[in-house]
Amino acid sequence: MPTPDFSHFRVSDDGQALRILDQRRLPTEEVWLELGDVEAVALAIERLAVRGAPAIGCVAALGFAVASHGFADDPARFRDQARAGLARLADTRPTAVNLFVALRELEQTLAACDATAGASMMRQALSQCARDHVTADLQACDRLARLGAELLPSEGGVLTHCNAGALATGGIGTALGVLLRGRELGKRFVVFADETRPVLQGARLTAWELERAGVPVQVIADNMAGALMAHGLIQAAVVGADRIARNGDVANKIGTYSVAVLCRYHGIPLYVAAPWTTVDLALASGAEIPIEERDASEVRHHGGRLMTPPQVAVRNPAFDVTPAQLVTKIITERGVCTPQQLAHLQPSWS
Ligand code: MRU
Repeated sequence: MPTPDFSHFRVSDDGQALRILDQRRLPTEEVWLELGDVEAVALAIERLAVRGAPAIGCVAALGFAVASHGFADDPARFRDQARAGLARLADTRPTAVNLFVALRELEQTLAACDATAGASMMRQALSQCARDHVTADLQACDRLARLGAELLPSEGGVLTHCNAGALATGGIGTALGVLLRGRELGKRFVVFADETRPVLQGARLTAWELERAGVPVQVIADNMAGALMAHGLIQAAVVGADRIARNGDVANKIGTYSVAVLCRYHGIPLYVAAPWTTVDLALASGAEIPIEERDASEVRHHGGRLMTPPQVAVRNPAFDVTPAQLVTKIITERGVCTPQQLAHLQPSWS
């Protein structure tokens, strides 16, 4: 069983609280939050204390199981509160499909509990379901990281965007897992981390993770990647995903599409690393992926300072869709494939 390099969420021994590392405070402070009810979990997700597609699913599952200790002991009322809790969590962030996978698993677990099941039996079943979800994510990350590492160049530079590391998953990470395992194979590339405006997941989180892991990393402003490519400093790009449609279109952090266009122009491969829980075969193309529009204040402010005229209109789509034809390979725990082959990948490991 693989182990994560570090864990940014854990359930207390009595199962009644979930502690998470507050990602908004990184890299300068390591502050842990304690979540005990559904509303606290929902706010942590909405406000980006925890973020990254697989991590959102893991924390929603564990947080819901923990919160169920506060639901009524009467089984009918327990089920009503559970239904309301699942609806609240589903209303937090729309793009990462991993959240909805986790919520569906919890819902199915409850449905599978016999009509005579008491509250404590349902709590136990939910807790097991949440732990299974996290274990599956950990194992998926480990497997896809090993598969993806083979694709990386043995030297030069690799660009990544946003944060798709351990902080964004229940395991070693997706894109960053690939990079870490690539370095373990003896590959000597340096990582260029896009700062990733407006919330700076790259500058704050990716740089923090890679520095801790001893991987050489240089942070660049998002508008520098093209110039570095033109100078021959970048040989590959690896990013994560929030949702991948059946045709291989990829929704990921805003700016990924620009990276993809730059890669295509410069003849650089773009790899997308994601667990199978990120693949949404129900959607025919990326046009069907809901894109979250976040609060204007994230764009208007930087480092606590207002950067625009106070009333000026701004746009803040949190994600964009990269068309399948700009993606070189998709790396999942089921295997490495072209976007066109995605829908045909079968589970091939256990
Ligand atoms: O808004 P965020 O920080 O949740 O966005 C995260 C991303 O876009 C990541 O690249 C994606 O979730 C992959 S995480 C393994």
